[in-house]
Amino acid sequence: MDTVVATNPPQGPKGSWLSGNLMDYRKDPLGFLVDLQKNYGGAAKIRFGPQTMYVIYDPALLKEVLLTKQEHFVKLKAFQEARLFVGDGVATSHGEKHKRVRRLIQPHFTKAHIQKYALQMVHIVERELRTWKIGERRDLTEDISNITFAIIAKTLFSLEGDGYARAIREPYELINRMCAERMRLLVSMPLFIPTAKNQAYKSALHALDQGVYDIIKQRRAHPEQEEGDLLSVLMEARNDQGEGMTDQELRDELMIMFIAGHETSANALSWAFSFIMQQPEVERKLYEEWDRVLQGAPPTAATYMQLTYTQNVLWEAMRLRSPSFFTGRSATRDVQIGSIQVKKGQSVLFSPFAIHHNETYFPDPLTFQPERFENDLLKNIPQFAYIPFGGGPRGCVGNHFAMLEMVIALCMIGQQYRLRLTPGHPPIEMEPLMTLRPKNGIQVVVDPR
Ligand code: HEM
Repeated sequence: MDTVVATNPPQGPKGSWLSGNLMDYRKDPLGFLVDLQKNYGGAAKIRFGPQTMYVIYDPALLKEVLLTKQEHFVKLKAFQEARLFVGDGVATSHGEKHKRVRRLIQPHFTKAHIQKYALQMVHIVERELRTWKIGERRDLTEDISNITFAIIAKTLFSLEGDGYARAIREPYELINRMCAERMRLLVSMPLFIPTAKNQAYKSALHALDQGVYDIIKQRRAHPEQEEGDLLSVLMEARNDQGEGMTDQELRDELMIMFIAGHETSANALSWAFSFIMQQPEVERKLYEEWDRVLQGAPPTAATYMQLTYTQNVLWEAMRLRSPSFFTGRSATRDVQIGSIQVKKGQSVLFSPFAIHHNETYFPDPLTFQPERFENDLLKNIPQFAYIPFGGGPRGCVGNHFAMLEMVIALCMIGQQYRLRLTPGHPPIEMEPLMTLRPKNGIQVVVDPR
């Protein structure tokens, strides 16, 4: 694909008079987003019902939205549905409120700070792997989600044990599905109408809330227990008037950390394994790197730096299966992006998944090829051409944390076991819910390494 600069004004598929392009999006969200780029280049204009929106692909346009003109945008209005459960925490808030919390949490996610989490991450993976047995079949996506959830719970909030995971992950399963479904409707059923689906959704939302409020309650009762973790930092923070966060504000921040922090990494890792299991050459190179660098020991913050092929496998998995496949911004005033006049209230969407399929920057884009990240690929393509973690001031705060935990888990699983897909495993399909996950999980047989 040639680099295509947005035409002025951007064009887009016609769609139906009532719902615009919504039905085509609903039928196949990923295909729709990739085709828009193929057919319209750097930017396309689409309509979901009465709302006209722009979908941008050109890295130069993205740079304006995410960096140079980011102050004229807030998180996508269409994500209101997700606010039902994530609330108004750092990922959804804006302005001063966002800045204040981001400043508060950012120091906990610097490269230097997360090094001290490495050992805790190793212990959690070790504990999980102790329950695996040679020859058994396992649901890999479920196992990895257990690991990434336990890592967030322990490192950020000093929580241990399955109780927290059950209290949060179980209701979240249904919420994730329902939320994604409702976001794809032009008009979703108001929640006060007592349909069976609505009732189930509401009781899951209530259970999720309860799970998080219980954590806050316990810590308020025993504040002396843990000092210096993210929860205590959030609890001790004071605004200019000397006021601390309310329970609801704390709930919103915890919720986003749990949700944004565990599902994305679990999906990225699951996808990485799906490629490794199907490409013996990639597996061989990983073994070679682990044997050479780690010599049987678990990774540390220091050896992490030398595990470059392992990191490239993860970068490539996130290129082809970007967990955050679709996101966007809404303009708070009229603003010009390239040659596009975005009106106040209009939305600008972008899809890391589709952007990563641009063959100008990623030749042979459908092939899994970790080697493409060698020789500083990211320095040789435009900024914002590869954005698994977004970018600019609203980029992922947990990017280094995620890379470290994923490298640790990938190495430790692979040093001990050779995973293979169960015989006759169906093709692993993509399921775009709140994040991009493997539909029906990935079932594996655990062989000795
Ligand atoms: C592979 C794993 C991950 C991926 C692919 C990922 C991806 C992203 C992306 C694309 C965004 C920006 C969304 C936008 O611009 O609309 C984001 C934001 C965010 N992520 Fe991650 N993330 C991952 C892991 C994590 C982890 C481990 C944490 C926390 C421990 C985390 C916490 C957040 C938060 C708090 C935000 C909102 C930042 C803000 O708005 O200031 N993420 N993430």
